[in-house]
Amino acid sequence: MSGLTLGRRLMDRLAALACFSDEAEGLTRLYLSPSHKRAADALAGWMQEAGLDVRLDAVGSLIGRYEGVAAAAPALLVGSHIDTVRQAGKYDGALGVLAALTAVEALSKSGERLPFAIEVVAFGDEEGVRFPSTLRGSRALAGTLDASALDERDPEGISVREALVAFGADPAKLRASAMTREGVLGYVEVHIEQGPVLERASRPVGVVTAINGARRLGVVVQGTAGHSGTSPMAMRRDSLAAAAEMVLAVERIAYQTGDVVATVGSIEARPGAVNVIPGETRFTIDARAPSDEARDAVVGRIENAIDGIAARRGLAVTITQAHRAPATACDANLIARLDAAARAAGHEPVHLPSGAGHDAMAMAALCPVAMLFVRCAGGISHHPAEAITIEDADAAMRVLLNFLRTYKP
Ligand code: GLV
Ligand code: MN
Ligand code: MN
Repeated sequence: MSGLTLGRRLMDRLAALACFSDEAEGLTRLYLSPSHKRAADALAGWMQEAGLDVRLDAVGSLIGRYEGVAAAAPALLVGSHIDTVRQAGKYDGALGVLAALTAVEALSKSGERLPFAIEVVAFGDEEGVRFPSTLRGSRALAGTLDASALDERDPEGISVREALVAFGADPAKLRASAMTREGVLGYVEVHIEQGPVLERASRPVGVVTAINGARRLGVVVQGTAGHSGTSPMAMRRDSLAAAAEMVLAVERIAYQTGDVVATVGSIEARPGAVNVIPGETRFTIDARAPSDEARDAVVGRIENAIDGIAARRGLAVTITQAHRAPATACDANLIARLDAAARAAGHEPVHLPSGAGHDAMAMAALCPVAMLFVRCAGGISHHPAEAITIEDADAAMRVLLNFLRTYKP
């Protein structure tokens, strides 16, 4: 194909997928929501048109298989996720799924079979916005998802299991959804960079060296609700005022510590009325770093600070861990092959670590993993202003196709 044909095809599909949203304004597509279902149905149709055999696994991941020269050969998995954050951009996740589909579609159109199978994977639970933990899709494929992760509930009280049944998946088949090591060659994920490095280097693509490890904590601060007019200031046990101090401690401690980042992204005060002292406040902490040791040291200091603030104010506090993913190194052989594929497409790749989490982290428990990053405007992500150019989309497609055509099991 010549010109920007592949890039245009990819951008058109990205625009089409972005129409499936839980909210009328903007793009919000949470795991197992009705719009996730509609997006998965559309994607299944596109996969079938491209000649793939499509299946939906126990946790709602959609997988399309393109056979190699010999049937039932081990597969190279290529994909990403189709769930989004609230008020998301069009590219985080969808880019990797649709790049994989567009590449396989190009092979299929020209009747090209490779010495291995390709499975295009669309995971559904990468953002982890709806339920406390995350990466259920990739953990299920890698065989590391405990069935108890299906008992988690969203803020409306709906369990993962119930949502899966409504989605049309069969959670009882969790074990059978795990792939075997022999059946899988590796996992490759194309993703927008979500940071400014490639733009600053004026390069369209980068190859990821490692993915930062992440931990998510849930904090519940228990005080005493009371009348906002009649309770003297010195006699209050205000859970929200305490949480405010805790949030600032999270920021201060992470700030003091090199590569570690920590964020309180969600907070809720109960009962939540203008004239009631908040009796209970819940908030989340997300902490990440390139090294698990550095991140754990910061989390330890944060936990101590929270305990100290609660004790000084006479409040009870509980901290629970909702998610933990170790820092993940990408595979040296796959990195070298992606480098060569990028050079063959005329692009010297930048090597960079990933600050964001990805399904590749969970897939690393099963097989070698690698990621190709694509430049995004201003490094902006998790925001409607997320953007890539058609030229960069096309460059990514050429690199991916070069990679697939030269990959040897
Ligand atoms: C997902 O984008 C994450 O890094 O949390
Ligand atoms: Mn993503
Ligand atoms: Mn994301």
